[in-house]
Amino acid sequence: MTKVLVTGGAGFIGSHLCEALIQQGFSVVAIDDLSTGRQENIQCLRSSPAFQFVRETILNPQVLDRLCSEADLVIHLAAAVGVKLIVEDPVFTINTNIKGTEAVLNTANRYGCKVLIASSSEVYGKSEKVPFHEDDDCLMGPTSHSRWAYATSKAVDEFLGLAYYRQFGLPVVIMRFFNTIGPRQTGQYGMVVPRLIRQALRGEPLEVYGDGEQTRCFADVCDTVNAIIGLAQHPQAVGQVFNVGSTEEVSINELAHLIIRLTNSRSEIRHIPYDEAYAPGFEDMRRRVPSIEKIQSLIGYRAQRTLRESLMTVIKYEKARLGTG
Ligand SMILES: NC(=O)c1ccc[n+]([C@@H]2O[C@H](COP(=O)([O-])OP(=O)(O)OC[C@H]3O[C@@H](n4cnc5c(N)ncnc54)[C@H](O)[C@@H]3O)[C@@H](O)[C@H]2O)c1
Repeated sequence: MTKVLVTGGAGFIGSHLCEALIQQGFSVVAIDDLSTGRQENIQCLRSSPAFQFVRETILNPQVLDRLCSEADLVIHLAAAVGVKLIVEDPVFTINTNIKGTEAVLNTANRYGCKVLIASSSEVYGKSEKVPFHEDDDCLMGPTSHSRWAYATSKAVDEFLGLAYYRQFGLPVVIMRFFNTIGPRQTGQYGMVVPRLIRQALRGEPLEVYGDGEQTRCFADVCDTVNAIIGLAQHPQAVGQVFNVGSTEEVSINELAHLIIRLTNSRSEIRHIPYDEAYAPGFEDMRRRVPSIEKIQSLIGYRAQRTLRESLMTVIKYEKARLGTG
């Protein structure tokens, strides 16, 4: 039985991944310091003999060494995530994302474990190209804006992962996730979908940042998890970078209207300037659309759920949490 170590396993994507891996017969160890993750995300797995949870930071070298020594595969998702958190706590972001990935690669290299690294569409920066291909240029904003610390930290993670592959032959795969949504994602750190859904369910105004005409593509977490497992199992994915996302593009205004309709809410939409929502001088991208040709041709990846279907799963989950479902 393949033993998989999932860093950030009690987080949003991590907990869904652990569940799918267990269902497919893998043995899973999740390490998470619960900085943004939650125990309740993995509650349903605690009784499974194939699942083990370690509450610890990946920056603890002894624990990481023991866990890597027992693993065949490491799926590295632990990171400081969410635009709000990044703007408010840039030191934590840089430390967690760069030192954490360095620790994972260095330790996995000791035991020759394959490593999948979660990167982000943020690495494309402010490039206006549509769609983004994996080898396109990245256009980073100035270092005076904390927002770019996250993008840069993920770019460094990619460089480091590819360097371990080229220099030491460590099997490394880079997954560049675009916006992913689903139950258990927290709105607390600036994630737009859970935040707008909670506002709609509470009858509060839906706060749309900027003019709301910026567009995004939201992938369902089940599709993202299938992509991760597909890439983990494909030998030709090694040493490569893959976009993982949906190509169904929607403006944030359209998203807010759709959420109001699907929740039967009486809420209005309120536009909040970026400066007020984040920090003065905050920069955002107008569009962010992935090219998914590469992952499609290697593992046959295709989104199974539409945006509307994904939103319904999140609405159901949020209703249950608010006690209104
Ligand atoms: N959700 C998205 O839309 C999206 C988009 C692009 C990239 N990503 C990447 O996917 C990965 C997972 O993101 P997510 O959306 O599930 O966020 P998340 O915040 O739910 O998951 C991250 C997990 O890492 C844990 N963590 C943070 N620092 C840690 C440390 N030092 N040691 C151990 N655990 C630690 C957190 O507690 C959390 O459970 C991240 O690397 C993120 O950058 C996510």
